[in-house]
Amino acid sequence: MSRKLFIAGNWKMNSSAVASVEVARGMASELGSVEAVDLAICPPFVYIPGVAEALKDSNIGVGAQNMYFEDNGAFTGEISARMLKDIGCRYVILGHSERRHVIGETDELINAKIIKALAGGLEVMFCVGELLDQRKSDRTTEVVTTQITAGLKNIGPEALLGITIAYEPVWAIGTGETATPDQAQETHAMIRALIGQLYGTELAESIRIQYGGSVKPGNAAELLGCPDVDGALVGGASMTVEDFSGIVNSVL
Ligand code: 13P
Repeated sequence: MSRKLFIAGNWKMNSSAVASVEVARGMASELGSVEAVDLAICPPFVYIPGVAEALKDSNIGVGAQNMYFEDNGAFTGEISARMLKDIGCRYVILGHSERRHVIGETDELINAKIIKALAGGLEVMFCVGELLDQRKSDRTTEVVTTQITAGLKNIGPEALLGITIAYEPVWAIGTGETATPDQAQETHAMIRALIGQLYGTELAESIRIQYGGSVKPGNAAELLGCPDVDGALVGGASMTVEDFSGIVNSVL
């Protein structure tokens, strides 16, 4: 089965009011009519409205990088799925390694957020990935299996259709070190087999699994050419029109 590639940019805690709109406008003009690949940009919360406005007539969707699992109420500093929908988000990234390892999010919290995001009509990029010492001690399968099994708890087959899994080996994020195509393919195939065990072959074949970790114009085609790599979640190289377009154009 052929899956449509999905390339998304995660700007993390970067950009500014002026730069975010400028870059989004540039992306709309360079990539706004691309149909062969699904595209999205995930700016910091505060820049979402400006970016959404700049991308509104394009095929590039807008996403957030996090959310909370309640709709509203006394949760100072948090943002809900309802609010993200309200300002034009289609996607939300959940379980990013920086939220797991810097902020301390647990599998249980991520699971609650995924359930709420899907119920609220958002599509989820659900991130998983092992630390360097876990890879070195041959624990990648065990770690990723736990993250996926716990993150997808109580999520039925219907809801799974709203999820893209993003495999982001933590040692490859922002380090310039990229998983080799063979390493990416091996873990992606393992993830697909796990989804097959949990949800059956048909859903395993249809779910998209993005790779993330130092994806650049120069390595995207090779990585995204792997049979089980269905797109990319791009950090640093999604910050400029030139690099993000370079990545997208390399797979068109
Ligand atoms: P880099 O592309 O900067 O390595 O970041 C990857 C990432 O964390 C995307 O979510």
